[in-house]
Amino acid sequence: MTSVLMVCLGNICRSPLAHGILESKLPFDQFYVDSAGTANYHVGDSPDHRSIAIAKSYGIDISNQCGRQFKVSDFDTFDFIYIMDDSNYQNVIALARNTNDIAKVRCILEADETIQHTHIPDPYYGNITDFQNVFQLLEKVCNTLSNRLQNTVI
Ligand code: 4NP
Repeated sequence: MTSVLMVCLGNICRSPLAHGILESKLPFDQFYVDSAGTANYHVGDSPDHRSIAIAKSYGIDISNQCGRQFKVSDFDTFDFIYIMDDSNYQNVIALARNTNDIAKVRCILEADETIQHTHIPDPYYGNITDFQNVFQLLEKVCNTLSNRLQNTVI
């Protein structure tokens, strides 16, 4: 079983989408996908209603996901930890215990060099168009990620 963790700040907008999109592209018996936030603001919460709506419009149900905070043991549980922006990276790396932990952490957009963005923009204070843009970016990069994970070219 290969395990993948998607991480953003609040675990209600971006990482739940990344979690749901990637999970939908991978065989469930071979991959475990989860998500977490570096902050504790939304522990126990459902994803943002706008993320739920965008995902639903593409046939992906993320409504059952539950917000949780990233924890040090996630470095042991997961093979790959994908962050959405530089701030997430700094927050996760600050908890790393050794170089093995650090090596597991990557910016999700590094997986697809055809994507021009450097990070997944935080849509929390934005509008539905911002959520659409986040979905499109994540959909594209998760396609690449799914192919690479299944061929173990990471
Ligand atoms: P996310 O977005 O990191 O993509 O889940 C945010 C959600 C909540 C907050 C910030 C960003 N917040 O400040 O509560």
